[in-house]
Amino acid sequence: MAGTAKINIGGKDLDLPILKGTLGPDVVDIRKFYAETDAFTYDPGFTSTASCESKITFIDGDKGVLLHRGYPIEQLAEQSTFLEVCYLLLHGELPSAAAYATFEHTITNHTMLHDQFDRFFQGFRRDAHPMAIMVGAVGALSAFYHDSTDINSPEQRMISAHRMIAKMPTIAARAFKYSRGQPFVYPRNELSFAENFLQMCFSVPAEDWKPNPVLTRAMDRIFILHADHEQNASTSTVRVAGSSGANPFACIAAGIACLWGPAHGGANEECLNMLLEIGSVDKIPEFVQGVKDRRYRLMGFGHRVYKNYDPRAKVMQTTCHEVLKELGHSDDPALKVAMELERIALSDDYFVSRKLYPNVDFYSGITLRALGFPAEMFTVLFALARTVGWIAQWKEMIEDPAFKISRPRQLYTGSPSRDYVPVDKRG
Ligand code: ACO
Repeated sequence: MAGTAKINIGGKDLDLPILKGTLGPDVVDIRKFYAETDAFTYDPGFTSTASCESKITFIDGDKGVLLHRGYPIEQLAEQSTFLEVCYLLLHGELPSAAAYATFEHTITNHTMLHDQFDRFFQGFRRDAHPMAIMVGAVGALSAFYHDSTDINSPEQRMISAHRMIAKMPTIAARAFKYSRGQPFVYPRNELSFAENFLQMCFSVPAEDWKPNPVLTRAMDRIFILHADHEQNASTSTVRVAGSSGANPFACIAAGIACLWGPAHGGANEECLNMLLEIGSVDKIPEFVQGVKDRRYRLMGFGHRVYKNYDPRAKVMQTTCHEVLKELGHSDDPALKVAMELERIALSDDYFVSRKLYPNVDFYSGITLRALGFPAEMFTVLFALARTVGWIAQWKEMIEDPAFKISRPRQLYTGSPSRDYVPVDKRG
């Protein structure tokens, strides 16, 4: 504990404990606030509220720092693999070589779906948004894997974690193939996690598919960059859903639904659409003026937590250049618009004074499009990668002795109590 905060409310003095984390701002512990004062605290959007204690991810938004279990995201993106990051998020430490081999084997051997699951996709219209399919299909996992829905069993919690990390690429690839009218492609155990996902998306029975190491590495890095991000909207959704004791598959489906929104995971799709709509560098000043006039927002810019360059955006920018170079698309007009827009925004007082910097979505859309994904798949890829973060956070919550159902209160501003008026007596 780091001392106490004193508050006087209704003439009554109250000492509130101040808690100190390993890093980050101190936290005023208000758990007994209501019981002792008969008042609530008010914080719509949770801008000043720590909703839980966590050991998984740390963000310093002012400095542009993101750590998973203490390791900087830049080092993980450069030196690790997505599966190793999954292990790290779930278990708290980097694996030994033997532990990694076992984990990789486990994930690889859970990638197939129950055969009946494939029929589930047929119920969707071909033009269904793949995120709509993801919400439904992932929720349906709890109807297929009954033996890993007991949240009180540590073994079942771990099995459900492995199942979701392993099966999410298969479901995502099927959502993609279904929208294309192409046959589903089965996972292949000899391929890496990222290679396997790309082959399930892009191979067709009519020809051989060969992994490209530059593109595979880029895919893996994109997964690493999206693996977890502290208590963001979708993660908080997963925690709130899980706090009622709901099974993990249902909780992750709730997280996917939240992620879909354009202010969260849907922003990369919106950002690419914006870059394509601007079309050429000479249209940028007119667009920037529209942003200043509040006619629209500069998608891929700004963040609730980062008031500096999003560290993921820097890695994403490098990855974007590598992918476009490999594919011979270095003169992509969308890339030119993005680079010029970024240059202008970083020197324009409107953006500088509001601390608006590029976020991870700014370059991810261009990169994913170059890899061959249509815009409606972008948020699906985000959901695939974020699944491990959601699961790690959900597990941490269930295993926390202080775990309680989430039940916020409100500032009620509706009508005071009044008597029911029969319809023939209403004015
Ligand atoms: N373009 C233009 N102005 C912006 C933008 C933007 N992208 N973002 C914020 N602002 C302005 C607001 O108009 C406001 O200005 P004001 O103080 O003059 O009224 C100020 O900056 C603060 O904005 P808020 O909306 O209060 O900031 P908040 O923290 O609530 O919003 C958010 C964060 C939702 C991410 C916002 O920056 C945004 O809409 N960005 C575009 C969407 C986007 O890229 N989302 C991806 C987030 S990253 C992720 O989910 C992986």
